[in-house]
Order: sequence, then C-alpha cells, then structure tokens
Amino acid sequence: MKTTTKIATIMVTAVIAVVFLFGNAVQAQAKAKPWPVPDKDKSVKAPAKADAAAGKELWAKHCKSCHGSKGLGDGPKAASLKTNPGDFSSAAFQASTDGELFFRTNVGRDEMPAYEKKIPEANDRWALVAFMRTLKK
Ligand code: HEC
Repeated sequence: MKTTTKIATIMVTAVIAVVFLFGNAVQAQAKAKPWPVPDKDKSVKAPAKADAAAGKELWAKHCKSCHGSKGLGDGPKAASLKTNPGDFSSAAFQASTDGELFFRTNVGRDEMPAYEKKIPEANDRWALVAFMRTLKK
C-alpha cells in the first residue's frame, strides 16, 4: 500500500471509531415502556382527604429532582436518566387511575425509586397522588 493510501485508511477508520463511540454516548433517552398495574391495585380508591398541598411539599423533597416542579420530566437529574420520566401534565398520564399512580409510586421500576418504605405513611403517598392530579394541563 502507498503511504497516502495507508494514511487515508487510518483516518477513515478513526472517523468511524469516533462516530461509533460518540453515537453510543449520546444515545437518545428511551421512552418509558407501558407499566401495567394489577387489577386489584388499579381500582384502589384514594382516601377522600388526600391533601394535594402536603403532596406538593413531599414532591419538592422526593420527586422534583427527576420529574421537575411541574411534572414535565425536566428536573435537574432528568437528563442523566436512561428512561424519560414522562410528562405528568399529559392526558395520557392523567388517564391512569389514582390506584395506578399510587401503585407505581409505591413499587417503582428501574430508575424510578420505590417509595413504600422511603415515605412510610400511605396518606403521604396518597397526598402525592393528589398533587400529581394538579399537574394536569
Ligand atoms: C431518580 C429519578 C426519579 C425520582 C426521584 C422519582 N421518579 Fe418517578 N419516575 C422516574 C422514571 C425514570 C420514571 C419512568 C420509569 C419507567 O416507566 O420505567 C418514573 C415514573 C413515575 C411514575 C409512573 C408514570 C406513569 O406514566 O404512570 C410515577 C407515578 C412516578 N414516577 C411518581 C414519582 C413520585 C411520586 C416521586 C417522588 C415521591 C418520584 N416519581 C420520584 C424517575 C424518578
């Protein structure tokens, strides 16, 4: 091989390697997969006195870092997550039952923490569900 051909081959290989590595590093954030909830949990009703104002305070402490203050999925930690935390103001999110939101908050999945033990009072987790309802557009 002539020297110029060799240099050209090395350069092309380097460019391909850089594109490959960089492409993987900036891989797009995945959209959350459907999250089915068992029927018995889906139909669980929120207590009448679930307090959205108390939920707002808990949200600021535990949830805002990923989900953002308005639940748009734009908290400071959101960009570093593999899965997009979603838009809680959307009709698709708000179509979930209270029982489904409560269940997902309790058990978590992958990067979404489980709060059943971290927030031990069920009433506090119901307050969070009430707060998430206020995020509707
Ligand atoms: C470390 C980041 C992080 C924190 C903190 C966090 N979440 Fe999440 N949350 C996620 C991610 C990521 C998803 C999407 C997970 C999936 O679908 O696999 C999610 C999903 C959810 C869902 C399900 C969304 C849907 O479409 O039904 C609910 C409900 C939820 N979070 C509530 C909360 C609440 C309430 C808190 C605070 C008590 C909280 N999250 C804190 C990252 C976080």
